[in-house]
Amino acid sequence: MTEIKWWQRAVFYQIYPRSFADGNGDGIGDFQGIISKLDHLRDLGIGGIWLSPHFPSPYIDCGYDISDYEDVAPEYGTLADFKMFLDEAHARDIRVILDLVLNHSSDQHPWFQESRSSRDNPKRDWYIWHDGKNGSAPNNWASIFGGSAWEYDAVTEQYYYHAFLKEQPDLNWRNPEVKAAMWDAVRFWLDMGVDGFRLDAVATIYEDLDIPDHTFPLSFDEIPDPNSLETADYYHLMEYQVKRPGLHALLKELRTLIDQYPGDRILVGEDEDVTFHGSGDDELHLVFNFPLMRLKRLTPMGIRANQTLRLTDLPDEAWPCNTLNNHDASRVWTRYGDGQHDAALARLHAALMLTLKGTPFLYYGEEIGMVDLKLTSMDEIRDTAALNLYQRMTQKLGKTADEATEAALLATRDRCRTPMQWNSSPEAGFSPSGSTTWLPIHPNHETGINVADQIDDPTSLLSFYRAVIQLRQATPALNTGDYQVLDAENTDCLIFLRQRTEVNQTCLVALNFSEVNQQIELDRDEKTAHVLFSTEMRSHTVDTSASINLSPFEILIAELA
Ligand code: NOJ
Repeated sequence: MTEIKWWQRAVFYQIYPRSFADGNGDGIGDFQGIISKLDHLRDLGIGGIWLSPHFPSPYIDCGYDISDYEDVAPEYGTLADFKMFLDEAHARDIRVILDLVLNHSSDQHPWFQESRSSRDNPKRDWYIWHDGKNGSAPNNWASIFGGSAWEYDAVTEQYYYHAFLKEQPDLNWRNPEVKAAMWDAVRFWLDMGVDGFRLDAVATIYEDLDIPDHTFPLSFDEIPDPNSLETADYYHLMEYQVKRPGLHALLKELRTLIDQYPGDRILVGEDEDVTFHGSGDDELHLVFNFPLMRLKRLTPMGIRANQTLRLTDLPDEAWPCNTLNNHDASRVWTRYGDGQHDAALARLHAALMLTLKGTPFLYYGEEIGMVDLKLTSMDEIRDTAALNLYQRMTQKLGKTADEATEAALLATRDRCRTPMQWNSSPEAGFSPSGSTTWLPIHPNHETGINVADQIDDPTSLLSFYRAVIQLRQATPALNTGDYQVLDAENTDCLIFLRQRTEVNQTCLVALNFSEVNQQIELDRDEKTAHVLFSTEMRSHTVDTSASINLSPFEILIAELA
C-alpha cells in the first residue's frame, strides 16, 4: 500500500451515545453532551469516532433497532445537533463514522408496519415472510438472541424472519427497493459529511432462499450464552443464515457508492472474516481482529500466533484493525485484570493496542480504566438479550429463577455500557446534578476512576494513554510500519519491530507480560536504540547487542539507531 490513508493512521474511539455525556439532564447521553466532551478526545489524540446508533429507535436493542434511518433519536437531539457535532469533531481533526444497521430494521419502522399490514402490501417483500410448516415455524432456524428466528404474525397468518430479536425483522436484501432505500440513507449521511460507517452484523444480511432446516444437533435454545460461542461453532450453528452468496457483491456495490465521495470515506465490518476485504481494496476497509479480543488471556505466545495468522491471511492491499472491547463485550480491565496487577496490565494491553500493526479501536472509558458493573437486580437490566436469556433458562433449560437471574446479571451487556465517568460527583459528571441516569454509575468513579482525577496526574492511566497515542502519532514506524516478530519463543515477553522503510525508521517494542524481571537477548547489529518510552526510569539509550533487563510488566519502546 503506497499512500497512507487517514484511517490507517487514526486511533478510533467508540462512543456509545446513550452513555457518553448527558447535556440536558434526562439521564441519557446526547449530542450536546458529546460536543462538550470533544476536547477530551482531541487531547487524547483520537482521529476517528465510531458512533453507535444515534437514530430514532424504540430501543429494544439499544438503538440497533432503527425506526428511521435518516434522523436522530429525539432524546439525543436534532439533526442540527448532529450536524453541529460533526462540524465540531471535524474542526478538531476527528472524523466520524456511523453505525449502519443493514440486516434489520425495528418492527416499528414504517416499512415493517406496512409490510405486516397485508400480504399484498407493496412493502410485503421488503421483509422475509413465509408460511408455517405443520402448524409451527417454517424451519428450525434460531435467533442469535435465543428462541426461534421466526415470529408468527396473526394479521396475515405468516411468519417473519429475525436473525436477532423479534423486534428486529430482517430486511429482504434481494428486493432492489430495499437496497435503493438503504443506499439513499447511506447517501443522506455521506452528503452531510460523515466519514464512513461501521457495518453492523455484516454476515447475516442474506439467508438461504430455500430456507432448509439446519442439520446440527444443537440449537441456540440449548446454549445458555450464544455470544460465548467460538466463531466457527457459531457459524456452523447458523449455516444457512450467514455468509450466503451475494454478500461480497453487495459490499462491493456499497464500496463503489462510498468511493464516489471525496475524502476517503470508509467501511468497517463487524466481522472478523478477512475475505470481507475483497481483493484487499474493493470491499471493506477494515475488519476487526476479534480472535485477538476473544483470547481468554493475552499471552505473548497467543498474541504472536494471532498476529501471524491474521497478517498472513490479510489480502495484500488490506490493513489490519485491532480492538479489545466494545459495547457487546466485557471491558478490557475486567477481562484481563488479575486483581493484583490490574493497573500494570491495563497499561500493557493499551500499549499492545497502540503498538501492534493496524488501526486501533478504543472503547469509551477504557482510557480511565472503567470496569464492568455487575447489576444487582433484574429490574436494572436494559439489555433485552439478557432478559431473553432469563426467559430461556427458566422456561426451556429448567433453571431456577435464582440461577437464571445470576446468569442474566453476569451476561447482560449493560455491564459495559454504564455512564462515562467524568468526575467523582454523584452523577460522575455524566449528567447534571440530581439526574437519574439510565443505567447505574459504577461506584469506582468516586475512587479515582474518572477523567477529572486523572487528567493532571502524570502517573494516571489517562496520562499513559495520552502519552502512548501521542508517541504513536508522532512516530511513522509505530503508526503505520510493518511488523516483525523477535524472540518468537519467548513465553514471558512480546518483542517485535515496527519498520517504515520509506522514512528509514525502525522501532523496537518490548512488553514484559510477567511479574518478574526478564532478560532479553536481541543480538542486533544496530547496537544502540533510543528509548522513546518506558514505564521504568531508563537512560536515553539501550544496547540491543547486549542483553536488556525488562522490569515486571515493563513497556519499552525504542528507536533503533
Ligand atoms: C451487533 C451489535 O454490536 C449488537 O449490539 C446488536 O445487538 C446486534 N448486532 C444486532 O444489531
